[in-house]
Amino acid sequence: MPSSSQPIRIGIIGAGAVSDYHHVPGIRLDSRCVLAAVCDTSEELLAKRKGEWGVERVTTDPLEICRGDDVDAVVIATPNFTHRAIAVEAANHGKHVMCEKPLGLNGADVQDMYDAARRNKVVHMTAFTYRFAPAMRYLSHLLKGGSLGVPRHFRSQRFLDWAETSWGWRQYKATAGAGDLFDMTIHRLDFAMDLCGPLARVCGAVARFAPRDKTKEGKECPPSEVDDWSALIGEFRDGAVGVWEGTTLAKGYHRNGFGHEWAEINGAEGSAVYQLHEPNTILLGKTGDDLHAVPVPSEFLSPLGSPRNPTEGEPATVFRYDLMWEFVSAIVEGREAVPSFRDGLNAQLVADAVLVSHEERRWVDLELE
Ligand SMILES: NC(=O)c1ccc[n+]([C@@H]2O[C@H](COP(=O)([O-])OP(=O)(O)OC[C@H]3O[C@@H](n4cnc5c(N)ncnc54)[C@H](O)[C@@H]3O)[C@@H](O)[C@H]2O)c1
Repeated sequence: MPSSSQPIRIGIIGAGAVSDYHHVPGIRLDSRCVLAAVCDTSEELLAKRKGEWGVERVTTDPLEICRGDDVDAVVIATPNFTHRAIAVEAANHGKHVMCEKPLGLNGADVQDMYDAARRNKVVHMTAFTYRFAPAMRYLSHLLKGGSLGVPRHFRSQRFLDWAETSWGWRQYKATAGAGDLFDMTIHRLDFAMDLCGPLARVCGAVARFAPRDKTKEGKECPPSEVDDWSALIGEFRDGAVGVWEGTTLAKGYHRNGFGHEWAEINGAEGSAVYQLHEPNTILLGKTGDDLHAVPVPSEFLSPLGSPRNPTEGEPATVFRYDLMWEFVSAIVEGREAVPSFRDGLNAQLVADAVLVSHEERRWVDLELE
C-alpha cells in the first residue's frame, strides 16, 4: 500500500472492450491513481494498448500482476470463467479488487471470491455500472428519502438490437455461464435490490433464438448455447414485487447502440423512471398526474469530489467512469466499496435461481445475505 502522497497503482487484467470504454478513461480522470500495468493473453492487443494507453509494463500472465509488488489494486475485465481464480489470487496477495460482472459462473465461484476478499481485508467491488447513472442515483435518493412512499412495484426492460452473429466467448456456458441473463439482466437485479432490498423468491425463464453459428466476418463457429432473452418476476423480502425482461433481439431498438432501458419504481406516493439514453433526466409522477421529465439536480450528475465535468462527453457513456472514482475512493478512505462483492454475490444467486426456475418450471426461494 503506498503512502497517502503516492497514487494507487492499478493493474488492468483483460485489455478488451470494457477496459477501454470504462476503466482506462476512469483512471485518466483521477489523479489519485495511475495505470501501472496491463495484462492480456493476446500479445497483439497488448502491443496496441501499450501505445493507446501509454503503459510500459505489460504481460500475458495475470498471476504476475496478482503477485507482483508494483501494483496495489487490480481491475479484472476478462471473460467470466476466469474471474474467480484471478480475484482469489489477487486478494491473497493483498491487492484491492474491482471485478467485472457477472463475478463468476455461479454462486459457488463468487462465494470463494467474496471469502478471499474478506479474509485478506482488501477493498472489493463489483462493476455494476448502471448504479452510477445520474438518473439512477437520483431515483435511489428519492426512494430512500421517502419521496415516492413505500416501493410496491419495480419494472425493468432492457431491449437491445444486436447483430445475430457470434458473441465469441459470451455464447458458451463454460466461458460465460449464461447469455443475456448474466450479461444484461444481472445489472438490473442488482439495482432493483439496491432500491427495494433483497429478493425473497423468483420465477424466471430464458430462451434462445439466434443460432450465432457464424462470426461477423462470415466464418463458421460452434453455435450459441446461451439465452438471448431472459425474464423473471420476483417478490422482495419487504413486500414489493418486480418484473424484468431483457433481450438482445429487439429489432428497431438500436438507439445508437444504447438500446432501450426503462427501470421504474411505483411507490405508494409516486412513480419514478430511469432511462439509459437520457441519464441526466428522470421521469416523475404523483397520483392523478402524468409522468413528466425532471432534470437530475447537479449534485447527482457526478460523485462528490470527482473531477469529471458532467457536461462533457456522451451522457450515456461518461457516468461509467465513476466506477473507478468509487473504487479508488474506497481504497483511499479505507472503507467498503459500493457495490461490493456481497452485492455481486446476491445478484449472482438470484440469476442462478432464474436458471433453476426455468429448468424446473417453478418458483425458487432465496436466502440472501
Ligand atoms: N460493467 C459493464 O457494463 C460491462 C460491459 C461490458 C463487459 N463487461 C464484463 O467485462 C468482462 C470483459 O468483457 P469485454 O467486453 O471487455 O470482453 P472482451 O472479449 O472485449 O475482452 C476480454 C479480454 O480479456 C482477455 N483475456 C482472456 N482471458 C484472459 C486471461 N486469463 N488473462 C488475461 N486476459 C485474458 C482477452 O484476450 C480479451 O482481450 C466480462 O466479464 C463482461 O461481462 C461489463
